[in-house]
Amino acid sequence: MAVIGIIGGSGLDNPDIIKNAKDSIVSNKWGKPSSPVKSGTISGTEVHIIGRHGREHTIPPTYVNNRANIQTLKDLGCDYILATTAVGSLREEIDRGHLVIIDQFIDFTRKRDTTFFESFEPHAPAHTPMAEPFDSFLREKMIKSCQDLGITVHDKGTVVTIEGPRFSTRAESHMYRAWGADIINMSTAPEAILANEAGVPYAAVAMSTDYDCWKTDEDPVTWDDILKIFQENAQKVTSMLIKTIEKLG
Ligand code: ADE
Repeated sequence: MAVIGIIGGSGLDNPDIIKNAKDSIVSNKWGKPSSPVKSGTISGTEVHIIGRHGREHTIPPTYVNNRANIQTLKDLGCDYILATTAVGSLREEIDRGHLVIIDQFIDFTRKRDTTFFESFEPHAPAHTPMAEPFDSFLREKMIKSCQDLGITVHDKGTVVTIEGPRFSTRAESHMYRAWGADIINMSTAPEAILANEAGVPYAAVAMSTDYDCWKTDEDPVTWDDILKIFQENAQKVTSMLIKTIEKLG
């Protein structure tokens, strides 16, 4: 039976979706994960959840210990990692409240630890392929779950992950659009890279919460806007995660 790891993003810092939940405080060679691990079951399947920014949302994107988070889920025997993330939309057709099952990233972070390989074994360099960083089997299950539930979903999308915590300038926002990015956030690329290095299949569901600042017919994004939209639509993300876990279990 599959064991599932979940990394909950903004708005899902402490999700209340598992039965018989038990918290454990753990650490590994990379340090402490962002939050205690909440472990239990969903529809009979073993699930372990970490809040990416901590239970009280105290950890800025730059300081999320992605290595400890991924290592923790791997050490708990997770066969799959499902992540959630709030994103800004860089495309008119990706409206607020829509979900996107990400298939590509552009890593525009600058200050993250994005490898487990601080040294190589002699004559054994580790250069992890990254052409398709999101697991296609998991993505398929996520897309199908959205369709089953009647949730508006975009079945692919390129996310550009920026360093943050500031939002983008208008010039940057236009540049990311010109590069072909569809959505923008501050978390996915480093996490996906490390999950791939760790060899744990990983997929992320993005909730579009705003139009960043490229659209001139509305005000630029604020954090309050993001949280409001995410909270109004959080049920979509949790019900699709539960459905996906039922399919995987
Ligand atoms: N997360 C949600 N909306 C965002 C935006 N516009 N820029 C960066 N990260 C985000």
